[in-house]
Amino acid sequence: MEPKFALFPEQASNFAPAVDHLLYFLLAVATIFTLLIFCSIFYFAVRYRRRSENEIPPEVHGGMTLEILWTVIPFGLTMVMFTWGASVFFSMSRPPDDAIELYAVGKQWMWKLQHMEGRREINELHIPVGRAVKLMMTSEDVIHSFYVPAFRTKEDVLPGRYTTTWFKPTVPGRYHLFCAEYCGTNHSGMTGWVYVMEPHDYEAWLSGGTGEGTLASNGEKLFQELACANCHKADGSGRCPSLVALYNKTVELSGGGTIQADEAYLRESILNPAAKVVAGYQPIMPTFQGLVNEEGVLQLIEYIKSLTPAPGRGAGAAGTPAAARKTGTAAAQPAPGSVPSNR
Ligand code: CUA
Repeated sequence: MEPKFALFPEQASNFAPAVDHLLYFLLAVATIFTLLIFCSIFYFAVRYRRRSENEIPPEVHGGMTLEILWTVIPFGLTMVMFTWGASVFFSMSRPPDDAIELYAVGKQWMWKLQHMEGRREINELHIPVGRAVKLMMTSEDVIHSFYVPAFRTKEDVLPGRYTTTWFKPTVPGRYHLFCAEYCGTNHSGMTGWVYVMEPHDYEAWLSGGTGEGTLASNGEKLFQELACANCHKADGSGRCPSLVALYNKTVELSGGGTIQADEAYLRESILNPAAKVVAGYQPIMPTFQGLVNEEGVLQLIEYIKSLTPAPGRGAGAAGTPAAARKTGTAAAQPAPGSVPSNR
């Protein structure tokens, strides 16, 4: 049961205590100064009230001690707020390497969540307790905002780019998920639930899918359907660059400059291939805008990522490197129909 009004709302993530302590500090400072100012006004109004009709007060030409005090004390307090707030902010913006990775797509008016292992959810998110979870988020239409009050996390979800958020749930249970950015008529209905489960329950839930295949394997299927492998050959002999071991690599661009082949670059290269062409290649790739939706783009990106067997890609991708090498070779086969997809 969620109480209607909670002075101390439930804390269910690693960030909740840190955010709350900072908030209490800000509230305490604001309360102390409010009382100080109003009590002073009241005291001075009484103490220095006009006592006779022709009373002229003496002129005051400043007080150095007072001026230094009311400069140094607020400066110190605001610097404490700044450094404290910044440290919380930085810890929230740096997901740990061992985080479980998930994708979230916002859409008028629902949340679509996609697990690497293949399970998809709408307006529900199942995650294990005690494990860091990293969400890569994008929108199919307008700006939304992924907000879980009990986790004290809120991050905007933008069309055309990826934003991330992360948290480590600490208490099993069911928590509200909201959209916190006005996104049209049914914005207020764009809600859902986050289920924080015991690890074994989570494993059972995760394996209870309908056999949709992993995100990467669906990406591989899409890759074959779209005949990407005709040009992107694994050994680099194709008309387009090989995608093997591409993820997170620094890529030389034609016309100079380099770029890191992260998710945003891969996405751009699928939807707007001419924007940043790899050095030594012609801008011959057609755009896939309108041919693949955001979920398809995510599948393709996960497939491309799976071709890079590397550490630090998150535990969610654990176990895929071997398969990745295999699919890497599979992508080398030029004839799309001839590639068996055994997963
Ligand atoms: Cu989506 Cu408000």
